[in-house]
Amino acid sequence: MIQAPRGTKDIFTSEAYLWAHIENILRDIFYRFNFSEIRTPMFENTELFTRSVGEDSDIAQKEMYTFMDKGGRSLTLKPEGTAPTVRCAIQNNLFESSPKLFYITPAFRYERPQSGRYREFHQCGAESFADSTPTCDAEIISLASQILNALGIKGAALKINSIGCENCRPKYNLTLKNFIADNLKNLCGDCQNRFELNPLRILDCKNDSCKKILNNAPSVLNSLCDECKLHFEILKNLLTDLNIFYEVDDKIVRGLDYYTRTVFEFIYDNSAICGGGRYDNLVSELGAKKIPAVGFGFGMERMINAIKAQNLFDNCQVKLDLFIGNIGENAVKKSFLIANTLRCAGFNIEYNNLNRSVKSQIKTACKFNAKFFTIIGDDEIKNGSVKIKNLLTKSETQIDINSINKFLEEN
Ligand code: HAM
Repeated sequence: MIQAPRGTKDIFTSEAYLWAHIENILRDIFYRFNFSEIRTPMFENTELFTRSVGEDSDIAQKEMYTFMDKGGRSLTLKPEGTAPTVRCAIQNNLFESSPKLFYITPAFRYERPQSGRYREFHQCGAESFADSTPTCDAEIISLASQILNALGIKGAALKINSIGCENCRPKYNLTLKNFIADNLKNLCGDCQNRFELNPLRILDCKNDSCKKILNNAPSVLNSLCDECKLHFEILKNLLTDLNIFYEVDDKIVRGLDYYTRTVFEFIYDNSAICGGGRYDNLVSELGAKKIPAVGFGFGMERMINAIKAQNLFDNCQVKLDLFIGNIGENAVKKSFLIANTLRCAGFNIEYNNLNRSVKSQIKTACKFNAKFFTIIGDDEIKNGSVKIKNLLTKSETQIDINSINKFLEEN
């Protein structure tokens, strides 16, 4: 029996309905903030990702699904939504017409699967271009926070930090390297590699012994230039004004290389349900003029796991307006025709097409969450009248067989 590949997950029936319902809520919130939807290809030229997430990042080094196509091109399944959004915005010149974009997309990373971590997962993200002010950062964080509120997810803690800009980061890298130098041999292999290439990312290491060494590392916040410091101060004040509770965590540096200034994560159940930040140089690094940007990405599986753990949307399922039961061959045909008329009128209808007892037909109607049940036999066809039963209250109403439409509309 062929199984789904490791790290992937089938989403079906009631769970797929929950996903669609959540996606509708997400779209409503994005539209409230004037974000427009963007759908980019599942794969891109590999270079897009090596140039954006950083050649020495975990994603580029270990996690990308990269393959050669039959034309000899190196392509990569998108590991995240930001780089494709930037590529699309540059290619289609969207920065002026639609500077606020959102997406809900599958993403692929070759990671060790565990709860909340998959090889194919889904990101719901927002990217806001052309505005370098801290107000824009606050708007993006407030959007992420409203998403959590609208879904009713409680207990996600916002952590923010600033990792500076091209002017002040080199100074911090040097300070950090000086601090680490004596302990370099005690760090894990990954961190030793990062020491020269990208020392800041050492702060992001999940290895316990590295974490211990870095506990007393000098804070990046003490190395910020005046502009970055002011940007961060204004952002913090705005978050306070918005009643968004946050904690400053100077160890948050994020795993992708494109960030400048603000970085943030919403931590839920010990992992990031959402991560984001500002990336003022990525657009120019990918070949366009310098356009500042800030955004975030939610992990949809982590979002859905939180929704389930908190018993939110428990009654989210497709409901039938009416299940039409029947006895006898003529009645099967009649119920099929009535079902068709009612479906055309916009109702959710199922009818019985199997030779089953009335009891088993009612059971099926309940299984499909039907609100009403009716049974058609030769007598009902002859008299032109049916009994409609409310499966919840058990009350019954006798009505004309041609006025079911009107009955469903009124009830
Ligand atoms: P990221 O932190 O790599 O950021 O991913 C965003 C979110 O995707 C994470 O917080 C997590 O919830 C989810 N996620 C990541 N990897 C997995 C996985 N293997 N399985 C399940 N969920 C996962 C980015 O990707 C940036 N593009 C975010 C961003 C947008 N920054 C600015 N704009």
